[in-house]
Amino acid sequence: MDELRIGLIGTGAIGRTHIERINGRLRGGRVVACSDVNTAFGREVAGRYGCEFFEDGEALAASDGVDAVIVTTVDEYHEKYVLAAIHAGKYVFCEKPLAPKPEACRRIMEAEMAGGRKLLQVGFMRRYDAAYNQLKKAVHSGKYGLPLMVHCAHRVPSVPDYYDTPMAVENSLIHEIDILRWLLGEDYAEVQVVFAKKTRYSNEHLHSPQIMRLKTESGIQIDVEAFICCRYAYDIKCEVCCEDGIVSLPDPSLVVERHAASCAHPLYEDWTDRFEEAYNVEIQAWLDASREGRVDGPTAWDGYLGQVTAQAASQSRDTQTTVTIPRQEKPAFYL
Ligand SMILES: NC(=O)c1ccc[n+]([C@@H]2O[C@H](COP(=O)([O-])OP(=O)(O)OC[C@H]3O[C@@H](n4cnc5c(N)ncnc54)[C@H](O)[C@@H]3O)[C@@H](O)[C@H]2O)c1
Repeated sequence: MDELRIGLIGTGAIGRTHIERINGRLRGGRVVACSDVNTAFGREVAGRYGCEFFEDGEALAASDGVDAVIVTTVDEYHEKYVLAAIHAGKYVFCEKPLAPKPEACRRIMEAEMAGGRKLLQVGFMRRYDAAYNQLKKAVHSGKYGLPLMVHCAHRVPSVPDYYDTPMAVENSLIHEIDILRWLLGEDYAEVQVVFAKKTRYSNEHLHSPQIMRLKTESGIQIDVEAFICCRYAYDIKCEVCCEDGIVSLPDPSLVVERHAASCAHPLYEDWTDRFEEAYNVEIQAWLDASREGRVDGPTAWDGYLGQVTAQAASQSRDTQTTVTIPRQEKPAFYL
């Protein structure tokens, strides 16, 4: 296949960045069709990028003019469109979270297994970030002994008014839930979410900061600070404490500013800058794999386990107790 003809459903913020990276910077694919429930806006986006507009996303997924599908709608509708792509036998990339509830992720796995081949990649782009890959290599090199503890921070300078307390786990910490499982190569046994003293910069629906503690099956203790409305920068930190040393994500290597009697090291202002290259590598990997007839990266199983953990974390936050994460048997299909 020379060039994959892609249909994208959900022409909001990240949907448009994926259209721009595919049509402007990456190789092997072109977004030729798009759909959005907001039809006036969707048509305008289609016109801007030279795409055919479909009022119905499921019809887009089934169209003969579309080889592969990207789902970037709001979370609640991921399942419907991912299932439409799977039923049409097409490769599909779905932004994280795969679906808000584990049961919906399970329905997606069942549809994929019933079709007999893997078709879905979930948008956990941190797995394609160069620094996380270096960290994983270091942790598994054996040079530092076994990992014992992990300290992380997910700090976001500001959020829109609709961002609320559950979103800290379900939309932000879902990234740590996935990447730390991938980094350590272990599933989680328990989770606890506690509230720190609330910052005056939170809105009335948001308690921030929150701290999530995870314990892996072998006993590694992880703490992740979700400091939404931290004001100062978009700052992602991860430090792995091992028996013989400590390895951590580097601070971004931006220019160092010596000025007015200070030496400053600028940080990123938001996630789009921090993970721009990871998104490019991720979508290029999806294009390459889809053209070669395989799936690269996080699967429906990873999306499902992420939601099982997020649901337990939300339960812990709501009850202020430690919650055991039920052990899940991985279907042979996803081994
Ligand atoms: N990987 C990441 O780091 C990352 C970053 C941002 C967003 N996301 C995910 O991407 C998705 C979209 O986020 P966003 O920030 O672009 O949101 P957004 O609100 O800007 O865009 C969502 C779009 O979906 C459309 N939509 C809603 N319901 C629909 C339906 N039933 N059918 C078709 N279209 C529908 C909306 O009209 C809107 O244009 C979310 O699932 C979000 O969690 C992932």
